[in-house]
Amino acid sequence: MQDKIKELDNKIEAAKLGGGEKRIEAQHAKNKLTARERVHFLMDEGTFEEIGMLVTHRSTNFGLEHNKPLGDGVVTGYGNINGRLTYVFAQDFTVMGGSLAEAHASKIVKIMDMAMKNGAPLLGLNDSGGARIQEGVVSLGGYADIFYRNTLASGVIPQLSAIMGPCAGGAVYSPALTDFISMVENTSYMFVTGPNVVKTVTHEEVTSEELGGASTHSTKSGVTHFTYSNEIECINGLKKLLSYIPQNCEEDAPNLPYTAGDEKREKLNTIIPQNPNQPYDIREVIAGTVDGDSFHEVHKDYAENIVVGFARLAGRSIGIVANQPAFLAGVLDNNSSKKGARFVRFCDAFNIPLLVFEDVPGFLPGTDQEWNAIITNGAKLLYAFSEATVPRITVITRKAYGGAYDVMNSKHIGADMNFAWPSSEIAVMGAKGAAEIIFKKEIKEAADSVAKWKEKEAEYADMFANPYNAAARGYIDEVIRPDQTREKLIKAFKMLENKVDVLPKKKHGNIPM
Ligand code: HXC
Repeated sequence: MQDKIKELDNKIEAAKLGGGEKRIEAQHAKNKLTARERVHFLMDEGTFEEIGMLVTHRSTNFGLEHNKPLGDGVVTGYGNINGRLTYVFAQDFTVMGGSLAEAHASKIVKIMDMAMKNGAPLLGLNDSGGARIQEGVVSLGGYADIFYRNTLASGVIPQLSAIMGPCAGGAVYSPALTDFISMVENTSYMFVTGPNVVKTVTHEEVTSEELGGASTHSTKSGVTHFTYSNEIECINGLKKLLSYIPQNCEEDAPNLPYTAGDEKREKLNTIIPQNPNQPYDIREVIAGTVDGDSFHEVHKDYAENIVVGFARLAGRSIGIVANQPAFLAGVLDNNSSKKGARFVRFCDAFNIPLLVFEDVPGFLPGTDQEWNAIITNGAKLLYAFSEATVPRITVITRKAYGGAYDVMNSKHIGADMNFAWPSSEIAVMGAKGAAEIIFKKEIKEAADSVAKWKEKEAEYADMFANPYNAAARGYIDEVIRPDQTREKLIKAFKMLENKVDVLPKKKHGNIPM
């Protein structure tokens, strides 16, 4: 028996070495951890159980039969993160560049199926050159098997992806189908194909960083939701993100213990500037409302005119969508609409109540917006809110103009409670523009047209630059003092905690994609 045990020990030892000492050193030299080190830092100590450590590929193409590393370049298994069951796969770049083929894919598929059956999140730590070129079509088949499961799992279990190396080809499409992507600055890249092929096909000269680095995807494309300066920060970010999210679509996110105190927040009374055209940072409103420093911003550097993220209110996890007057006056445009819509849909899929802070002058006009489909993209946000059945509350802090008033979780599209601060202006448009259109003739004919315009602007502002018309119609449930906001929200979300809302029976809707 001893020799058999020894044989097993040797195999385990060999599997743990992945692509060997030299490649591990090379990985470290690039400021990257190995797949096993990543899993070690991710999972609660002593909880990780590896599955499929001895799996090997079956290919004999291009001499691969002489290179059969145990585990086939991916570590898969389950364990706990902050005490909660989680499934994980971590690709091992030291083994054929973490490339994916039949056996590698089958290991990932196996734990995806387990995660689905057992209703627990799936985390993918991606570090892969994509489809293993030597294995041909079985590599493509393996990817498709994963994409299919990513899609079926969407909205059933949370799926988080971390990009921890150069990920190309199929290695980027699986993450793209998951809920959130995190990247590490300077060591991770995502592209359908790398700079060399780009040069051949489009004659563009571009570096990996410019083409698909963390800053590109967090600011330009919006593909990634979080960026971190190193892998440990990234791993801690994944753990933090999970803490706001339930295990699956049938459960609620974990509550933190909370002791009620004085919920009055005086600071909120002084954030809105006297001049309605002066910006302020909506994050101050968020921070002033939620528990401590619980706000965890998502997509921070992309479409900054809308702020989205998770927070806690009286210990409960909520999702926040807020217009940001400090960036482009908080206007809704193509990117902010897409960003907001995706976040709303995640929260709704996973029973996370939604809180909206609204200060929006409308949709951004112009050829750039129209040619890039602001009609379709704005409709995404409208659709996402309209379809959401989780508890939904809106607080209008200042402007709620035009179609954007409707879109930003208005009463009319199913919001449960709509509050407004006394500083709210709820109207079709700002007073200046409105006066110019509806009093055009009078302004033109007046002896002093500037004075006339001002007079008409004041008249319109008097009538509509307030929350009381909307409150009189019940579109606003209550006009509240800003310092009451937290208390009102805690009570309203508590009142809504058993909300049941059922959508009309259908196969699925047809969101304007
Ligand atoms: C097989 C691969 C590989 C691959 C890398 N390797 N990618 N082996 N298939 N796809 C191997 C290398 O041969 C090398 O082996 C080791 O991994 C490390 O690779 P290097 O090139 O030395 O590393 P680096 O310089 O860091 O470059 C990493 C890289 C580059 C940017 C990922 O290797 C690369 O461009 N790979 C190809 C990427 C690609 O075009 N993939 C698309 C596949 S098509 P040794 O033995 O020397 O250590 C695809 C289609 C799916 O994925 C479609 C689904 C929709």
